[in-house]
Amino acid sequence: MRVYKFDEIDSTNKFLKEKLDLEERDLAIARVQTAGRGRRGNKWVSSEGAALFSFVLKYDMSVPEDEYMKLSLVVGYSLLKTMKKIEPLEYKFKWTNDLYLEDKKLSGILIEKIGNYFIIGIGININNLEFGEAKDIAISLKAKTGKSYDLESIIENVVNSFFEDFIKFKNGNWKEMLKEINDINYLYGKRIDIVGLSKEESGIAGDILADGTLEVFVGNEIKKYNIGEIHISKR
Ligand code: BTN
Repeated sequence: MRVYKFDEIDSTNKFLKEKLDLEERDLAIARVQTAGRGRRGNKWVSSEGAALFSFVLKYDMSVPEDEYMKLSLVVGYSLLKTMKKIEPLEYKFKWTNDLYLEDKKLSGILIEKIGNYFIIGIGININNLEFGEAKDIAISLKAKTGKSYDLESIIENVVNSFFEDFIKFKNGNWKEMLKEINDINYLYGKRIDIVGLSKEESGIAGDILADGTLEVFVGNEIKKYNIGEIHISKR
């Protein structure tokens, strides 16, 4: 495993994406990011004290392409398991892969594909107590427990656990993994808006299904979504 550590960098995902000689498990870690990126082009507030890192997974030709639709869920599942070992708190899993604690976001995951490689970028609010513009929607482990944590050991645990869990996934253990995330499905029973489609829809979220989509009860219909933006309705 090659590890690239930065005191300050624009984005660890961007660094790996631009790297020409990628190898599986390459890992980039930053103390701070000046242009941390979130999903859907959002900014990720990346202040000191957060675990900010990206690593490389090589596309495995023996895995059917469809299976990779579940990759973000597998990463989220694995992160959940690791966080539970560090602090056994009441985490919630927000489809597709955010971890929530007390209705606030603890971590986010951004997966990007470049050639035959996936860049898996993870931000976890650990020791940071400043969330900038995300102050109303974010929480850190320290804000909850008052304790400080060793970031590098957390990052190492997350990456190692992911590769173990990915093997579990490839060996046919998806149903058990899915059950664990459905047991703490943050969106379940909540009214959500599905934004990003030609027509905005609203419904009540149900389970995360075996194919990785989210089931939503829209009027009398049961629909499932794998694309588009899902927001919890403010109505
Ligand atoms: C999201 O919830 O929108 C995903 C946030 C992902 C943030 C991490 S921090 C490390 C890595 N580098 C980035 O620029 N983004 C990811």
